[in-house]
Amino acid sequence: MKSEDYAQGDTFQAEKRTIFSSEWLPVCAEAQLARPGDFLSATVGGWSVVAARDKAGEVRVLRNACRHQNMPVVGVPAGNCESFRCRFHGWTYDLAGGFLGAPPPVAPPDPKANLSLQSLATARAAGLLFFSMGKPAAAPGLGALPTSLPAYGGTLSTDIACNWKVAVEHLLGERASSADFTWLWPLLALRRAGRLAIVEQLVPQTFLRTRLLTHVFGGAADEHQQAAGTIKHVCEALQLDRAGGRPAAEGTLVDDFHRRLAEAYAQDHPTT
Ligand code: FES
Repeated sequence: MKSEDYAQGDTFQAEKRTIFSSEWLPVCAEAQLARPGDFLSATVGGWSVVAARDKAGEVRVLRNACRHQNMPVVGVPAGNCESFRCRFHGWTYDLAGGFLGAPPPVAPPDPKANLSLQSLATARAAGLLFFSMGKPAAAPGLGALPTSLPAYGGTLSTDIACNWKVAVEHLLGERASSADFTWLWPLLALRRAGRLAIVEQLVPQTFLRTRLLTHVFGGAADEHQQAAGTIKHVCEALQLDRAGGRPAAEGTLVDDFHRRLAEAYAQDHPTT
């Protein structure tokens, strides 16, 4: 990796095109959408999405882009509602993304057109909900994750001023020696510690801003606040190293991560 890969928006845009447009990306723990009407919005790898549980209990991930002028329909991180009302001009959608109506001054010219929010491919594994912007035939990579975990104990959210790859490299370097560690390209790490299962989900927001979601199963999330704070502190220091040209320490998992990145970058700039 070059220093600019950690510190420039161009590389992040290339990653959006080649990685975040086609891979299965975690969006949240399914238990974060416990009740009908619960929703959660996020920007993952440059894609704005909203996950919601409808009245029948079904969970979906929708593209958070209004069919009127492509603006984000949901502007708050989480909540519970009966329907979504776009804050810009008032188009409304049900929890499944279906178009409900619009104020007369901004009504669509063809009310019979399909004006639903785009529903994305979804999958579940390790207590988490995944989406894909592409059209995957299946979710084979997710099969490496356990199908059942202890009871959900909560999620911690930690904002880190670093490129997402710095956080991945740190987690891979720290945890590689653990026998109970599972890494799922590109954004998920799972580790077991006795009765606990801890799923660390990275949310690339911009090229210099990453959210770490620590989902705890089998225990209380609050007990992991200090560990999450340490990850933030270390990653923000490592970001300065990477931007300054100091490479990540080598290791099997880190090397494999860099190989996958190189393959993705080659798709964006093919040599033939
Ligand atoms: S952009 Fe949503 S109603 Fe206009």
